[in-house]
Amino acid sequence: MKAVVYKGPREVAVEERPDPEVQAPTDAIVRITTTNICGSDLHMYEGRTSVEPGKILGHENMGIVQEVGAAVDRVRVGDRVSVPFNISCGTCRNCVRGQTSFCLRTNPVPGVDGGAYGYANMGPYDGGQAEYLRVPYADFNLLQLPPGEDHETDFTMLSDIFPTGWHGTELAGMQPGDTVAVFGAGPVGLLAAHSAMLRGAAQVFVVDKEPDRLALADKVGATPVDFSQADPVQQIADATGGTGADCGVEAVGYQAHDPTGQEHPELVLDNLVGAVRSAGGIGVVGVYRPDDPGAATEPAKHGRIGFDYGMFFSKGQHMGTGQCPVKRYNELLRDLIIAGRARPSSLVSHELPLDQAPEGYQHFDQRDDGWTKVLLHPAL
Ligand SMILES: NC(=O)c1ccc[n+]([C@@H]2O[C@H](COP(=O)([O-])OP(=O)(O)OC[C@H]3O[C@@H](n4cnc5c(N)ncnc54)[C@H](O)[C@@H]3O)[C@@H](O)[C@H]2O)c1
Ligand SMILES: [Zn+2]
Ligand SMILES: [Zn+2]
Repeated sequence: MKAVVYKGPREVAVEERPDPEVQAPTDAIVRITTTNICGSDLHMYEGRTSVEPGKILGHENMGIVQEVGAAVDRVRVGDRVSVPFNISCGTCRNCVRGQTSFCLRTNPVPGVDGGAYGYANMGPYDGGQAEYLRVPYADFNLLQLPPGEDHETDFTMLSDIFPTGWHGTELAGMQPGDTVAVFGAGPVGLLAAHSAMLRGAAQVFVVDKEPDRLALADKVGATPVDFSQADPVQQIADATGGTGADCGVEAVGYQAHDPTGQEHPELVLDNLVGAVRSAGGIGVVGVYRPDDPGAATEPAKHGRIGFDYGMFFSKGQHMGTGQCPVKRYNELLRDLIIAGRARPSSLVSHELPLDQAPEGYQHFDQRDDGWTKVLLHPAL
């Protein structure tokens, strides 16, 4: 089969790889119809992780079940499915409590819980930016979709970024009627804003500096805030009569930068502490890493990020963090799509054949104008 492979910093290639096979009776093989490039892939692409060259990338996958192992009895060959980016066993202590992003059995890396496809530190699993993907614990992990081809570009957001955006609002403790400050107008931030609107926010601010992304924020009904024009904390304070937002979502991650492009890993955390009112909540779904050899400062190289903790404490705020347990939300979000209430595809900018993945990575990584979300279709 053809697969997108990490070669080294800022280099991916499409190579021939053996088709995946059923290895355990609980496995399924999925023929990929759509697989997305994610902001999380860019951390690897830019050489800012320990991912090994040769790894097949891709954790945002959907397709048609091609083959199932002998112990798979819920999922059938021919089913159209969304594959959550988390690989979870379904029976460990964390999975049983719904914490499928911290499965205790699927990641052999010492000290790290939770597995994922095609990702640094998340276990030995191939990604799905390929023609086929092996899915462990298929009965537990796969989400059934209606047959046919309807809503393909909406359903493809169910494997990661739509649940992740929703999770950001959940971690922030968002309530109907809240004013919500979302930092980052990448795909995750835009779907956090969409989620906040679906959950009855009174107003949603979305902070970024990329004009095309801020325009999309406006399109989902949010108020764009351009941090290259003026301090975003002040802009949100001014717009809320000095009170600040009721809660906030961090959808940027450790490569947060100032308007000149200089990285400051604490910048958005500080901004959120400033922009959210006292006793408000902050949901951090942007990724931070325990090790980052490419970081600008010595402490940050070891994941030690000095944010404004004193003010965070004084304001009595609370913060939730971590990878999203996709299974907690993907079914309800699927049904909101089917009902016509949710339209996560509104941010899709490009649909490319797998062969053009290198071009897709390059433009999305540069945040080139109009490259907000790239979908790959192996059959194109
Ligand atoms: N927790 C999870 O389960 C999960 C899942 C998917 C993605 N992620 C993470 O979410 C983050 C966002 O993902 P994405 O796909 O939207 O990525 P992205 O890189 O496309 O978007 C990030 C956006 O943040 C903006 N930004 C940079 N500095 C900023 C600042 N100081 N203030 C405001 N905005 C700023 C950038 O201009 C960019 O538009 C990444 O860190 C990604 O790894 C986490
Ligand atoms: Zn992703
Ligand atoms: Zn588990």
